[in-house]
Amino acid sequence: MKYTPPGRIKSVEEFRETLGRHAGTIDCLEDHGGRHGPLGRSIRILGRTVSNRFCVQPMEGWDGQPDGSPSAHTIRRWARFGESGAELIWGGEAYAVQADGRANPNQLFMNPDGDNRAWLGTLLDALRQGAVKMGDDPDTRIIGLQLTHSGRFSRPTKEGPRPLIVHPHPQLAHKYGLDHDHPLITDDELRVIRDRFIEAAQLAHEAGFDFVDIKCAHGYLLHELLAARTREGDYGGSLDNRLRLIREIIEGIKQTCPKLGIGVRVSLTDRPPFERDPDSGEGVQMKRDAGPWPWGFGVAERNPDKADLFEPFAFLAMLQMLGVRLVNISVGSPYYCPHVQRPATYPPSDGYLPPVHPLDGVRRHIEATRACKERYPDLVVVGSGYSWLQEYLPHVAAMEIDDNHVDFIGLGRMMLSYPHLPRHFLDDGVLDGKQLCRTFSDCTTGPRNGMISGCYPLDPYYSKMPQAVTISGLRREVMKGGRGS
Ligand SMILES: Cc1cc2nc3c(=O)[nH]c(=O)nc-3n(C[C@H](O)[C@H](O)[C@H](O)COP(=O)(O)O)c2cc1C
Ligand code: SF4
Repeated sequence: MKYTPPGRIKSVEEFRETLGRHAGTIDCLEDHGGRHGPLGRSIRILGRTVSNRFCVQPMEGWDGQPDGSPSAHTIRRWARFGESGAELIWGGEAYAVQADGRANPNQLFMNPDGDNRAWLGTLLDALRQGAVKMGDDPDTRIIGLQLTHSGRFSRPTKEGPRPLIVHPHPQLAHKYGLDHDHPLITDDELRVIRDRFIEAAQLAHEAGFDFVDIKCAHGYLLHELLAARTREGDYGGSLDNRLRLIREIIEGIKQTCPKLGIGVRVSLTDRPPFERDPDSGEGVQMKRDAGPWPWGFGVAERNPDKADLFEPFAFLAMLQMLGVRLVNISVGSPYYCPHVQRPATYPPSDGYLPPVHPLDGVRRHIEATRACKERYPDLVVVGSGYSWLQEYLPHVAAMEIDDNHVDFIGLGRMMLSYPHLPRHFLDDGVLDGKQLCRTFSDCTTGPRNGMISGCYPLDPYYSKMPQAVTISGLRREVMKGGRGS
């Protein structure tokens, strides 16, 4: 579909009209107020007071060493997160709790033969030194480590995918060429993974992190488990069973490291998988049988195009009951509905042209986040999916904070192209248009093709790499068929 990206929209007034047409109830403030406005308001989190509402979202770089330690690229990224001025660093990137749970062979992971504590310490040091370099007090930052197991999307070696699935999912099996009788991960194997999460949390605590995030998002293992209605045994079927593993992980961490903060990133609602239409290049939903569709978390079984938050609310209630106060709301998955999880003008190479206006994806993020905050006002809630808003990001973000719809504005891709955005915004309220993420998706296309991730178009560190040429060729290829005008 054709649409005008934010960089070509001339005024806040014009942008508000676009929001009105494509983004439901989402609106923005004409005057975001800079550091004196909502984004510069202090807030209490994990017993400390921080001075702004920016959060750096977790983003892997596919650039760790084969033994699970960080490379120079990884360390540079963490240093830039520290330079950003954002007070909350949600996870840095996904850290796999065991080798077979890596989403790529270069993901950081807890290696039983490695000096994991020292490696994690290196990342924390890099982040803190980034803050110091900019004249900030590094001790005000709240820093978490995101713990993950990639489940269905595990690809731990160069030999290719090694999916560990918790339930058979007809569309995803078809999309990724899995046999009908692909074995399910057993309950005993899940219990081993549970113990690895607890061990990794202890490691993060010893390394000096303020909290760990138990990643229940984006189609990875714990997210898929939330929807495992057709699974038998201790961890499938009833909602109680599906929540059990996450509950056991949280209880185990609380017991082992009572002083460590715990957060949860969750895809609060999902979409049935999409694929590229070979004629138009646009995303279309994969075929599914008529009747109930039990494969998604937070979607109506009888109409899976609609969110149904009954179970996600029960999940949030459980988190609150367990004393978890930090949640980070995402939606969907970058693998099977990337236009929702990462609204973009240019799709990644394994994606499709946006079937709807990118603001529809932004709206889904914001509405899910609002629903969470409205129902559970005591939670500290981070929202996602703001990068597509570009010039108008602060205007929308300030309104969401002002209306108490969210507590922190999570920045993903924007932190790769323009890590100093929070700092510039808080200094004088002015952004540098040349560094704004234009959602080229090269940072996703790189890894999908076995290359490291980075902002190839806008960050000179990556633009100079030979991969930049290959990736821009892939972008041209996937754009055949149309794009925003
Ligand atoms: C290159 C890349 C790597 C990512 N890695 C992670 C990750 O490790 N963990 C995670 O929860 N989300 C990950 N994400 C998703 C982002 O955290 C974020 O939710 C998404 O990009 C949408 O937010 P945005 O519009 O600000 O980019 C990644 C995104 C990108 C572009
Ligand atoms: S490659 Fe750069 S501009 Fe493109 S989506 Fe990623 S961060 Fe944004």
